[in-house]
Amino acid sequence: MRLDKYVSQCSSLSRREVGYALREKRISVNDDIARSASIKIGDDDRVSLDGQPLAPAGPRYWMLHKPAEYVCARTDASQPCVTDLLPPEAVADLQLVGRLDKDTTGLLLITDDGQWNHRITSPRRQCPKVYRVTTADPIAADTAARFAEGVVLRDDPAPTLPATLEVIDSHSARLTLHEGRYHQVKRMFAALGNRVVALHRESVAGIELDPDLASGDYRALTPEEITRV
Ligand code: URA
Repeated sequence: MRLDKYVSQCSSLSRREVGYALREKRISVNDDIARSASIKIGDDDRVSLDGQPLAPAGPRYWMLHKPAEYVCARTDASQPCVTDLLPPEAVADLQLVGRLDKDTTGLLLITDDGQWNHRITSPRRQCPKVYRVTTADPIAADTAARFAEGVVLRDDPAPTLPATLEVIDSHSARLTLHEGRYHQVKRMFAALGNRVVALHRESVAGIELDPDLASGDYRALTPEEITRV
């Protein structure tokens, strides 16, 4: 990896600031003052900034309390993106672990660890995702039984995997899915003639949205949460 990229990844400096730091002789490689941003850094090289050894940051794992009105994308020409809520220097390598609709709120996991992301999103793992659903019409008495059997969605011949519906009151319920098709919750209720008016994700793969996390805020996952997956 180029020196400027390496220093920028291991510190709070942007690539441009690394250029300034080089000119100010603040960066050394193997105890020699570095002069070029483009020299290649290998595994055995020791790089220091202002005399402090640098090391690559470990993988990052975050939970975001997604507000409505933000799209799950890296950039968008006209709409706010969930990445706008994260520190700009962190966004480059980050992956969203699944996606939520623009109007859906709640738990969004974010990481730069592709394997961990895959463990959660791989259809083979069938990781549970729990949603709090509010509907336009009263939830019909047979809804839980039909979701448990699997329903056929419009434009998709394969029935949904068995899902668990826990009715809370006439218009709200907690739904646990083990797959993640496009607009799945909304389409499942639509298949039974009802309509979702609010959707909030409470947990993914056993990791629950922190109740102390305000809408729009994020925090690092704890080691225990990371290994729960
Ligand atoms: N199902 C939906 O319909 N929307 C979401 O955002 C997530 C699951």
